[in-house]
This record gives sequence, C-alpha cells and structure tokens, in this order.
Amino acid sequence: MPESGDHINPAGSVPELLNPSFIAQVASRLFNELPGGAEVPRSETELQHAPESAATSAREQATQGPVAGDPAWQPALPWFPAEAQAPGEGNAFYFTREIGTNREEALEPHAERLTEEQNYTPDGSGSYGLEEQLRKNPAEPALPAELPGLPSPDSAISFDFLRQAFQPFQSIAGLDNGRCFAEELLRKAAGDGGSRAQAPVAEPSAFGPHYLFTTTDTPGNPAAAGEVFDVVSVRKDFPVLHQKVHGKDLVWFDNAATTQKPVSVIEAVWQFYATDNSNIHRGAHTLAARATDAYEGAREKIRRFINAGSSSEIVYVRGTTEAINLVAQTWGRKFIQPGDEIVLSILEHHANIVPWQMLAQEKGAVIRVVPVNDRGEIILEEYTRLLGPRTRFVSLTQASNGLGTILPVREMIRLAKRHDAKVLVDGAQSVAHIPVDIQDLDADFFVFSGHKIFAPTGIGVLYGKRELLDVMPPWHGGGNMIKDVRFDHTSYNEAPAKFEAGTPSIADAVGLGAALDYVRKLGLENIARYEHELTVYATEKLAAIPGLRQIGTAHEKVGVLSFVLDGVPIDEVGRALDREGIAVRAGHHCTQPSLRRFGVEGTVRPSLAFYNTRQEIDRLVDVVRSIRRG
Ligand code: ALA
Repeated sequence: MPESGDHINPAGSVPELLNPSFIAQVASRLFNELPGGAEVPRSETELQHAPESAATSAREQATQGPVAGDPAWQPALPWFPAEAQAPGEGNAFYFTREIGTNREEALEPHAERLTEEQNYTPDGSGSYGLEEQLRKNPAEPALPAELPGLPSPDSAISFDFLRQAFQPFQSIAGLDNGRCFAEELLRKAAGDGGSRAQAPVAEPSAFGPHYLFTTTDTPGNPAAAGEVFDVVSVRKDFPVLHQKVHGKDLVWFDNAATTQKPVSVIEAVWQFYATDNSNIHRGAHTLAARATDAYEGAREKIRRFINAGSSSEIVYVRGTTEAINLVAQTWGRKFIQPGDEIVLSILEHHANIVPWQMLAQEKGAVIRVVPVNDRGEIILEEYTRLLGPRTRFVSLTQASNGLGTILPVREMIRLAKRHDAKVLVDGAQSVAHIPVDIQDLDADFFVFSGHKIFAPTGIGVLYGKRELLDVMPPWHGGGNMIKDVRFDHTSYNEAPAKFEAGTPSIADAVGLGAALDYVRKLGLENIARYEHELTVYATEKLAAIPGLRQIGTAHEKVGVLSFVLDGVPIDEVGRALDREGIAVRAGHHCTQPSLRRFGVEGTVRPSLAFYNTRQEIDRLVDVVRSIRRG
C-alpha cells in the first residue's frame, strides 16, 4: 500500500550483497579489525571481579566468571561446546557475546569502519556507496582487493565464523550436514541453493515426519495410539529451553505470559536484518521492495492462518492490547451511543476491560458482565439474558489467561448477532493452542499478540471484517495511513494501511510469519491434542497435593493451571519454583475480576505449551509438594 508518490522498485529479488565470497571478505575484515585485535576485550578483565548474583542470567554469568585457564572457569551455557565459550583468540561465539554485552563501546568503531567500506569506490573518490557500486555491476559484488588501511581479504576464512557462532543451533536442530543454518541461509540467498531441505524446519514435507511418529504400540497408554507428538524433536528447535537456571534444567511454564521462539523465527528476524532491512512502502530501491514483500508476505500468512477472507482485513498492531484499544477508540467512539450496552465476560484480561470502561465513561454507555460457574465456565443462560436491544458490542476472550477456560465463542457470537451486536474475540491465549477459523466463527474482530504464538514481542494482529474497517475512522495519524496531505484537507488510505501510521515493526512481522509457518507445519490439531493430554495429566497430579486448590477447572480449557497453596503466599511459591529452575507467573495475571470471583487476589500459574513434557510436570509437582511440606 504505497503512499501516493512513493515508488517501489520491483527489480531484483536475489540479494546481490550475499555473494558468499563477498560476505567472507567483509567478515574477515571485520574480525581482523575489531578493536584490540586478538586481545581479550578490556571488559573481560573488569568483569572477572563483578559480584555473583543469584538472579544473573546465563549470558551475564558468562561474562562475569573467571577467564579460561583458571580452574574455576565454567561454561555458562551447558548445551554449547565449552571450548567455543572460552574467552580467547579467534573464538567467534565468545567474541560475539562480548560485543553484545559491551554494545556501545564495541559498536562505535565498527560503525565507522562500515561507513568507510560502504563509501569506498574503486576509483578512490568515495562518491557513491557500495549499493550503488553493486547496482552498476551486480555480477561482481566483491570488495576491491585493497582498502586503504585494511588488511587484504583472506579467502580461507570463508564461513568458519558463522559455523562457530551458530554451532549450538545446528546441533540442537540436528543439522549435522556439516554446514550451519546461517551458512545455508547465506548460500541460499546468494543463489546456490544450499542444503536447507535437510533441515527439519525447511520444507513442509520434511516437517511432519520429523515431529510426529506413528505407533501401534499402545499397552497401558492410550495416548500413544496413532500419531504421537515427538516433543523431544520439537524441543530441539527452541534454544532457550536448553539451559540451566540456578543449576537446574530450565522448565518454561510461563507460556501464558510469553512463549519461546524456535530457531526458524530467530533465523527469519536475523535474515531480515542481515539481508533485507529497509523501510517499507517507500524508497526506490531493491531492499525497500524486498522488505515490503517480506512484510506483506507475512500479512498473507496471517490471513491464511486464521482463514480470513482477505489480507486487507489484517491490520498490524503492537499486540492484543493495542488492537482492542484501536477498536474501542475507532469503531467504539463512532458507533457507541449513551445508554448502549457493552457485554464482557468476567474472565477478561484487563486489556479487554479497561478500554471499554474508558469508552463507556466517555459515551455514557453501560458495561454488562457475564458470570461463570464454580469451574470457571460461562453461564450461557445468564449471557443470553444479558443480551438485548441495547447490546451494541460484545467483547470476549476465547481462552482465559487466569483460569484457562475456553469460551464457547462461536455460540456466543451467534447469540449476539440475533441482537445485531458486533463481537470482538480476544485470541491472545487461544491462537497458539487451538485452531481458529475466523470465517467459521463469524467474529467481527479477532485480535492476538505475536509473542504468545512463538513470534517476537512488539507485533500483533487486528482482524476486522472489511466492511467494518471501511467505516472506522483512522486512529493514529502520520505517514503510510494517508493518500494525500494538504493543509486544508487530508485523505486517508484504505485499510489496513489506514490503521498503520508510521514505520511498523517490520522484522517482527516477518518473525510472526515464520512463527505461523512453524505452528502450521506442526499442526494445531496435533498441538491441541498433545497439550490437552498434558493438561489432564498435570491437573490430576496437582489435585493430589494436599492443601492445593486449583482455580479454573473447566471441562474445556487450555493448559493454564492456576492454583493457590494453603498457608503459603503465592510469591513464595513462585520464588521456590524459580530456585528449582521452574518459571511460572505468580500474581493477578492482569485479570483481577476473574480471580476475585474465586475469592483470591492472585494465583500461582504454570501455563503450558507444546514443548513442555510430563517429566517437567512431575518436577513441578515434586517441588510444590516439598514447598507444602515446608
Ligand atoms: N497477558 C499475559 C499474562 O497472562 C501477560 O501473563
């Protein structure tokens, strides 16, 4: 959706900059030219004396411990080859982390040097940039052999630095084909195809067999019948899971707060910044076209994922909260009248309460609240009774973040439509766990956050029916959302650009596209089935702990396992679990009304995703039992 006057250069989809020999030359020179040469970076010796902190992350621990050669030196990341973590000459991984840790200090000279290189011209005039140089001679995207003040390129270095830096991902992902994925990526981008097809996340056809296996061997375990979800393989895709916290294997049970990212998502964001980074919808150059394609391509993936009718119904936002505020402040401000009723359930997240309260206050509208029974299930008769001629809008979560209840939103939408009310469904806690077909649901709006579905933070989705987006006024004003700007009149773009003022989170949108690819290939039916079995298992185990009260025991629920422990404050339980490497959220989870319905101000909330295991649940249960015993 270019602005009027913008021009996209459609030329060139192959990133010429990624010629392998070119990259090797740049890398070689960068590594040779890093500040301090091959010496241990200054910060390393300083950091030796940094105090130990119980809460120190693995990354921080790595830079605070003694240096290699010291008998006390320990690798910080147990899953990463120790020798690659040791400080020392030529150790790319250590070096990379040091640069990352001391960002300001380390990046400055590099920035200067890159500018020098980019401005270099063969005739020494420095009058045009590297990109211009490549455009003039795309077949030969090589740096000149001699750069003033820089050593000659060493062709022998090739991709070794990438192999070292990405070795952990390679081994975790089982890419034992002798080439790391970054190398594959660069080779592929450079046009020689690489061997990515061997990677489990590369092709849909390779994905299924890798993550599912079929068995007829079911003695004593009905869950093992048919296709079985291979969680061991799945976990290999998530580097963050393979670390120790407080000396224990990390258990990530905080998935309702945010999910972890597979290598394919990390790689997609990395690739975007490594090869395509540009602003979008503007700029007459190849990278702008590539970045725009990547951003709009991800929009199409989102459309497909939720089965929307058109990608013009998909608006990028920062997350669920922003999406709901957008609808309240555009559709709501235009159409809600004094005395109108907005129906919410008691299970809502604060993000699906407060924007409507603010609107109701402004417009003189009334909020009506649908109650739940003692299991945390919507009382449909009460909901039906609440609906009436004044009902203008219904906003419902599809799955509760505090209790895990899955709401019967399809039925609830059907009932609301009888009164001609519009319905928004908050998919933040459902979209990563159960299949969503937006046309089948017939929701008017559907919103979710990327980071709850294995994508980066800072990107989210507002789906809106086209006819509704068309009648909604714009929200934020600025670039991209306009057709024409004059001081006496401004006209606006069509949706979705109308709602996307300013430069968006482009790389994060690309990451979201990669995350949806990942989930789609794994199969939401498989995910839902596996997580359901895990939830049933955990529910039974937790129920057997004396003094433990589960909050939220709906028949239909996602893997949210809220509980309180008799006589033990929730934050104490949270801290005790953390000491054992188990990450949960303890608090009100931004859903105070739903917890108060059960007489509590907060809960301990383990929440599951498809990379969790029964063994992890056993560990949780053991620790909770020991906390209970004091
Ligand atoms: N909504 C997120 C949660 O439930 C932050 O934890």
